Amino acid sequence: MLQIGLIGCGAIGAFHARIVAERRDARLAAVCDVLPAAATALAARHGALAFGDAARMFETTPLDAVIIASPESVHVEHARLAAAAGVPMLIEKPVAPDPAGIAAIAAAARSAGVAVMAGHVERFEIGSAQLKAAVDEGVCGRVVTIAARRQFTSAETHRFAGKSSTLKILGVHDFDLLSWVHPVPVVAVHAVAGRGRVFDETGLDDHVVTTLLFADGAAGLVESGWTLPLDYARFSTPRGWSPAGNNRLDVFGAGGFVSNDMGLRTQQLIAFDAVDGFRAAGIRHQPELYGRITGALAAEVDAFLAMVADGTPPLVGLDDARRAVTLTAAAEESLATGLPVRPAG
Ligand SMILES: NC(=O)c1ccc[n+]([C@@H]2O[C@H](COP(=O)([O-])OP(=O)(O)OC[C@H]3O[C@@H](n4cnc5c(N)ncnc54)[C@H](O)[C@@H]3O)[C@@H](O)[C@H]2O)c1
Repeated sequence: MLQIGLIGCGAIGAFHARIVAERRDARLAAVCDVLPAAATALAARHGALAFGDAARMFETTPLDAVIIASPESVHVEHARLAAAAGVPMLIEKPVAPDPAGIAAIAAAARSAGVAVMAGHVERFEIGSAQLKAAVDEGVCGRVVTIAARRQFTSAETHRFAGKSSTLKILGVHDFDLLSWVHPVPVVAVHAVAGRGRVFDETGLDDHVVTTLLFADGAAGLVESGWTLPLDYARFSTPRGWSPAGNNRLDVFGAGGFVSNDMGLRTQQLIAFDAVDGFRAAGIRHQPELYGRITGALAAEVDAFLAMVADGTPPLVGLDDARRAVTLTAAAEESLATGLPVRPAG
């Protein structure tokens, strides 16, 4: 049984904890959160030890691997602790808030000789992976345009106020997808933001539209927003359903196109009743199947634990994280200056 630690017992950390606890080859040994109540409650649910301090967790608990699901502002600190303890790590996206943070994590991991996997969950979505495979097989011919859209309601935005940004929360997923599907350097990034109620309440941009120019002349478009109305996803039944988003990824080329449409009018699972009205289920990333979490997040943890057990390289590593974070930083610089930016490196 692999002994697994978790840092950060919030929204995504709770899913990671459950995924580990539901596995037969791993045990959630310890969890850590600066909020004692969060650590204690999650530890009690899964029979783990609870800590308020990550350094103490590493000092006292022998771990085979750790999942870092704290806010990105403390990922470098937590990655350095894991590296010093010799523990391989899966770090949630964005792996660091900026490229310097990625470099710091890479340096710590390299000198300790520990492996790092980037928690880019979209890589483990079947639709994303099969779209990538189709593009690689040449279905599109020469790629001309890649367009990604990721929109949700603003229901979850308050917990990120003052801690993150729309591009770090949402955009980074698609910057990674675009760089993965079309692995050509990006030479220019230009971002503009639509600011409204979400910006007034949380400081997060309501909607950011980023264009990218690849070195081979292909164009990219990434839409990242909290623009779905709150009522679109305000419901209490059916149990276990989580709100759907409005997502798509389209690749158009000289010879054809590939489209992964997860948009408003094509939701797979919908329900209607007189009380809650129409609602659509978000069955991406961490759906429940017969009482267990399945889907992309569970597949990501599975790949991470296989990497730990077999000593194989990570499927998604720090080079991928660096590319995604570099594009995010360029888009944020463009937002701040109003000008197109050439991404560093
Ligand atoms: N893969 C995905 O789709 C996905 C989804 C949600 C969040 N995330 C990422 O995961 C990270 C966490 O997001 P979240 O939504 O779970 O946030 P959250 O605020 O719900 O949870 C973060 C937790 O970390 C704890 N924490 C803060 N500082 C800490 C420290 N120094 N040591 C230990 N614990 C600390 C907080 O108390 C909180 O409980 C972010 O980087 C976010 O972008 C990824």
